[in-house]
Amino acid sequence: MCAAPNPPMAMLAELTHRCPLACPYCSNPTELAAKETELSTETWADVFRQAADLGVLQLHLSGGEPASRSDLVELVIAAREAGLYTNLITSGIGLNERRLRALDDAGLDHVQLSLQGITAEMADRIGGYTGGFKRKMHVAELIDQIGFPLTLNAVMHRENLDDLPATIEMALRLNARRIEIACVQFQGWALTNRAALQPRAEQVVEAKRTVAEAVERLRGQLVIDFVPPDYYSDYPKACMNGWGSTGLNVSPDGTVLPCHAAAIIPGLEFDQVQARPLRDIWYDGPAFNAFRGTDWMPELCQGCERRDIDFGGCRCQAMAILGDATAPDPVCRKSPGRATLDALLAEDRQGVEAPEYVYRR
Ligand code: FES
Repeated sequence: MCAAPNPPMAMLAELTHRCPLACPYCSNPTELAAKETELSTETWADVFRQAADLGVLQLHLSGGEPASRSDLVELVIAAREAGLYTNLITSGIGLNERRLRALDDAGLDHVQLSLQGITAEMADRIGGYTGGFKRKMHVAELIDQIGFPLTLNAVMHRENLDDLPATIEMALRLNARRIEIACVQFQGWALTNRAALQPRAEQVVEAKRTVAEAVERLRGQLVIDFVPPDYYSDYPKACMNGWGSTGLNVSPDGTVLPCHAAAIIPGLEFDQVQARPLRDIWYDGPAFNAFRGTDWMPELCQGCERRDIDFGGCRCQAMAILGDATAPDPVCRKSPGRATLDALLAEDRQGVEAPEYVYRR
């Protein structure tokens, strides 16, 4: 029998799936929510109050592109009134000085700016949006002028991983306090584009060396978070710090998910925040209890010394690769599913030329 879960610490509010960019690694589901289905300003404000009452401390405002919501400032005001720490996860497109100053006045605490590449040519190609890089750099300058704490979110993959040293330098130039070097995780659109995005083995070795050197050199100046390429790891990531343990996601249409990709798991029953209190969903929702704790785990994970370190890994990855969300994450070297993952990796690495991207549209 599982112990009662703790309250969640963080909530990801996917305000919209609309986005001017079309990144082929987007973690949004391939079935995007239409604008007409998005929650209203008032409903989001109520969700933020419920989240704070439940124990949530940090609110991540995400998308799609959250700046595509014309009520973004009102939403930040509502979140701050609820007592939540607010982090805006944005491409920067749709923000200008007037809006950023309004967000500052509203009490926005932190900005996380995505970076597609270090040159306009690369960034605009990956983002599928001409002129995006120039606008993003302007927004980064404004963020610095206004004084928002900035995290640069650099999504790395086969096409831009060789630029990692210059990417870290760019974080310094933009006065970022933190850089998240996030090697693409294969969910949503990224899974569709896996073969094009999968880094080569030598890139992974070099990236690890670069990160280790930069962490030492920049200690006290820039915090570096590194999310390594999953398929090259020996053990799975502790996805969501364990299912239903610390965080929850609310989709643009109000569906409450234990992680952003959980909708790919068939048979799970998801609640809508319009129909059931968030507290009930967190503690008693069937989707949240499906893989909570350790009782659900297969024998291999139950008896493993890493059981309480990686919690069996990522359920959505087990589903995507093995077609079985109850299986151990196939990244794990001990897992029988690892052979399937290795076969995919070998397939991805065969082509010298990466396939064309399928852009998110
Ligand atoms: Fe769903 Fe990892 S993304 S459990």
